[in-house]
Amino acid sequence: MRDINQFSITQAVKDSFRTVPGSRFEKLLQGLIDHLHDYTREMNLTHEEWMGVLTFLYECGKISTPERQEFILLSDVLGFSALVDMINTRGGGTEGSNLGPFYLDNAPEKQLGAHLADGREGVTVLVQGKVTDILHKPLPGAIVDTWQADSSGTYPIQEQEHGQDKYDLRGKFTCDDQGRYRYTTVLPKPYTVPYDGPVGKLLRAGDRHAWRAAHLHFIVRSPGMRSITTEVFFENGEYIENDAVFGVRKSLIAKVKPVKASDTFDFELDHRPDAMFEFDFVLAPQG
Ligand code: BEZ
Ligand code: FE
Repeated sequence: MRDINQFSITQAVKDSFRTVPGSRFEKLLQGLIDHLHDYTREMNLTHEEWMGVLTFLYECGKISTPERQEFILLSDVLGFSALVDMINTRGGGTEGSNLGPFYLDNAPEKQLGAHLADGREGVTVLVQGKVTDILHKPLPGAIVDTWQADSSGTYPIQEQEHGQDKYDLRGKFTCDDQGRYRYTTVLPKPYTVPYDGPVGKLLRAGDRHAWRAAHLHFIVRSPGMRSITTEVFFENGEYIENDAVFGVRKSLIAKVKPVKASDTFDFELDHRPDAMFEFDFVLAPQG
């Protein structure tokens, strides 16, 4: 009989799975077993600590619903989501960042120059830029799909019981023949990720806050190109240095400038802005 001890058990567990040799599944599973066992040996994990981890995961499962995804939140605050975004950013393309839980894939299509924040308080900002490939060639017809919080840090989808329309503060824009997009909206404010569950307990145990730096979310698509899911942040914004989910990258920070009374625009806008910024998206080819 094979002697299983604290070292040989790792290979024994790996051997117990019959996977397709050389497959991605085999590689992922074996790597997971290697790292999990190495961690356990290195930490000399006690039974209490082992049960603590499993109870924590159980608590994450218990509080989860289709709307409250505690495991994704756990991945976010551990920088796991950000790491996956980073390693999947293609050379030359705009860096990826958090999708977050508030995306709706059927946002209303809006005309270029539309205002996304009718009747809402806050600083009205003109958001404009272009979508190009990595060789700076414009991508006419690219789709810029955006969603955001309001000027108090709340997503309308969170306020449906107070009469808010879940499709408010979001829209899909089709870029013009030069690959340009533009719209006005209100500047969003920072908000907290949910911290009333096990992930909140973890944050408190590590003396961490739950605030996200203010941001706009984007998914940008164009045929034949890899779509990007990302966020745009604001220079000197609060929590820019310590976003709770590690979403901020230097390349994703926009500089907001005030609009002067003498400023004119050579395109139509539904609403005159108080401020503006430009952000260009770069898509890498598919494959
Ligand atoms: C968000 O950006 O909408 C978000 C990201 C992670 C957790 C919660 C919210
Ligand atoms: Fe968000």
